[in-house]
Amino acid sequence: MERLWTDCRFAQVNQHPAPVGLLLHGNRSRIKAQVALPMPCNGIQKHARQEPLQCDRTSATIQPDDPKNPSTMNRCQLSLLLITALSMTVGAVWADTHGSTLIERPAVGPGMNAYYYDADPEHWKTIFERAGREVFDRRFEIVNALNITPGMRIADVGAGTGLYTMLFARAVGPAGRVYAVDISERFVEAIEARSAEYHVENVVPIVNHQRAVTLPPESVDLVFLADTYHHFEYPISMLASIHEALVPDGVLILIDFRRIPGISDSWILGHVRAGREQVIKEVEAAGFQYQGEPVKLRRNYCLRFSKLQ
Ligand SMILES: C[S@@+](CC[C@H](N)C(=O)[O-])C[C@H]1O[C@@H](n2cnc3c(N)ncnc32)[C@H](O)[C@@H]1O
Repeated sequence: MERLWTDCRFAQVNQHPAPVGLLLHGNRSRIKAQVALPMPCNGIQKHARQEPLQCDRTSATIQPDDPKNPSTMNRCQLSLLLITALSMTVGAVWADTHGSTLIERPAVGPGMNAYYYDADPEHWKTIFERAGREVFDRRFEIVNALNITPGMRIADVGAGTGLYTMLFARAVGPAGRVYAVDISERFVEAIEARSAEYHVENVVPIVNHQRAVTLPPESVDLVFLADTYHHFEYPISMLASIHEALVPDGVLILIDFRRIPGISDSWILGHVRAGREQVIKEVEAAGFQYQGEPVKLRRNYCLRFSKLQ
């Protein structure tokens, strides 16, 4: 079975989030993080502490005042230099990947997803695929409302244990594709095993990272998010990446919990970052148009968006 993996550069970015608020200007060629280390480095002398640094902003090259005496960097200066190098490298990777000039602040803490990375899929199946969970109880109605046709390419982003992946695989038929995308390798492996067990051959498992779906541009007709949007640590980046992965006029379906202060229970108020109206605003700001609710849910809502150019 075909299996796609995230570039390890991205995994590094995910494990060590880029510094908040770092602004990068210009295109890639101008933000190369090439820091020239004066050699030899092992000659750091403490008496050089007072020496001012000059920073050439365009090349990010840091030089001591006296280039003839490069070994006079102190530890503090070296630390500054290394931090700068690290920040710019991470930033450069980010900008390279996303063509963006702004590093996004996390919308939720990493604790939101920490337990999924090492998840036991069998355990989570008893939670995600249990009677009483609205998106489980009404799964057939939801899938029917999406007008899926044979041959479609669907990305089930935040696929979890594969509840919807399997239903989509049947709906798109052998000519279609379902990308089961999740940050949790354990979940993705379980979906792969589940597909093999049921001889499902049109599912492509993908381990992505917190900032992107890692799908090729214009490769899918529909992106589906069930109870996943509020788990996005970087929703702006994820939406940009989803937008890029969709074909022109592609569809985004977003199911999430209703969050109404004073009405929703305390678990939802504490766990879910944004309510329906705020979510619509965020998704529209990412280049989508809200097109209504294909199915009316009670505890959740189901939103349909189409991609704008
Ligand atoms: C509440 S579960 C929902 C699982 C499945 N959609 C369902 O309804 O049964 C949220 C899922 O989103 C995944 N997730 C969180 N952030 C993600 C991201 N940025 N990209 C892809 N998956 C993500 C988690 O690993 C988890 O499997």
